Amino acid sequence: MSKPDRTRTAEVAIILAAGQGTRMHSKMPKVLHPILGRPMVDHVLAAVSRVGAKHTVVVVGHGRDEVISHLQNWPDVTIAVQETQDGTGHAVAVALAALPDSISGPALVLSGDAPLITEADLEKLIATATDYSAAILTAELADADGYGRIVHDSDGTVLKIVEHRDANESELNIKEVNSGTYCFEVSELRAALGEVKRDNAQGEIYLTDVISILRNQGKQVTTVVTADENILGINDRVQLAQATGILRSRILNHWMRSGVTIEDPATTWIESAVELESDVTLLSNVRLTGNCRIASGAIVGPDCTLEDTEVLAGARVLKTTAIGAVIGAHASVGPYTYLRPGTVLGTSAKAGGFVEMKNARLGAGAKVPHLSYVGDAQIGEGSNIGAATIFVNFDGEAKHETIVGKHVRIGSDTMLVAPVTVGDGAYTAAGSVITEDVPPGAMGVGRARQRNILDWVLRRRPGSDSANAAVADSDSKDS
Ligand code: UD1
Ligand code: MG
Repeated sequence: MSKPDRTRTAEVAIILAAGQGTRMHSKMPKVLHPILGRPMVDHVLAAVSRVGAKHTVVVVGHGRDEVISHLQNWPDVTIAVQETQDGTGHAVAVALAALPDSISGPALVLSGDAPLITEADLEKLIATATDYSAAILTAELADADGYGRIVHDSDGTVLKIVEHRDANESELNIKEVNSGTYCFEVSELRAALGEVKRDNAQGEIYLTDVISILRNQGKQVTTVVTADENILGINDRVQLAQATGILRSRILNHWMRSGVTIEDPATTWIESAVELESDVTLLSNVRLTGNCRIASGAIVGPDCTLEDTEVLAGARVLKTTAIGAVIGAHASVGPYTYLRPGTVLGTSAKAGGFVEMKNARLGAGAKVPHLSYVGDAQIGEGSNIGAATIFVNFDGEAKHETIVGKHVRIGSDTMLVAPVTVGDGAYTAAGSVITEDVPPGAMGVGRARQRNILDWVLRRRPGSDSANAAVADSDSKDS
């Protein structure tokens, strides 16, 4: 994970992710719980990769099979297995054992369950640590419960970190807390870890003890204070929702500052991997997930859920659910429209109200304005599909394709029974069941010819409202 950059990058980044996450009450390992479409640990890895680290090590333990299998998505990451969870110091020692002895330089240590850490925090830690043996990322919390407290010396330098359980009364009053994110000099970290004892309330090897060990060696340690929200650690699903809310606002603010109009941030959800161009407009109640891409001038919403969908410039998408679709430039979609994977709408194409499409390619200007199902189809440019047309793609066992040429006019309520082809410029009669190919320029008629049985109502429904209406009508014409 290297990054060409103005700032110093890390030699190594160690992400601790071996803990159990008991309070999540979940079968899924804590660090794999998604936040805005991305597993928690990926948010941490993304921040690290933006800063750059020569070696990135993730320490796994509980739920390791699933975590290791997920980490295959990060081929540059080294995995270190911590067989027993003997504490954060032990976890870091396990990580260092997976790296060559010879390395030197800044070592970041992070928690896999603190996904709101920012690139700026990490850069500041690395920069600050150039003049110190360690820099600790801290925050000043009104409620410091559960956190390790930062104990400063009278000269303002850091003396030690005391864990909540081990703190005395005056230490418990300290508001500056340890975030669990640090930057050390890796050789000093390695040496100091060798001296850590288990003499604490939990009988664990605490990483935090490294601070007083460095201090006793005459070395200097300092802190970098950051915003409370950046250090939020996730222990339960309440904190998971809090982190989601914070990340959601960050993403929305980022896009608004990049030129996207977001009418109602309170009802707009944009996942981490989504990309938007400037002058996109998102109206209320829009949810963009997965790898959505939306181009300039497009207006999406209100009431849209788009997943892995690309919307090209100037398109209009209203009250629509789309998954794995491409909506062409200046195309129009909705309301109440469902676009499923493989749908590709050409420039200025239309998928109107109560239309469902799957694996359907529409050429430029092709229109399916109302109440239709289009499955496994190609529709050529300039063609119009009449209301309530169904592309009958399933024979009960297998799916088949329908090809509609250019500038075709499919009459309303046509059943196109696949496999079938309608040639360029052809028409079909309304209400037809088309089971055979229609040649270019032909009119396909697939329905019984109409016949009228005269006076049927008068004979079979005498005296009914309908019969009386018919009699009155013919009387008025007679007089
Ligand atoms: C730790 C810090 C505390 C800090 C807090 C911030 C220590 C001793 N204390 O406490 O000062 O305020 O984080 O949230 O470090 N882990 C392992 N292997 C282990 C133990 C933990 O990988 O053997 C991982 C956990 O999965 C977690 C991280 O290390 O991601 C922190 O461990 P946790 O047990 O939550 O430490 P805290 O008690 O919260
Ligand atoms: Mg914790």
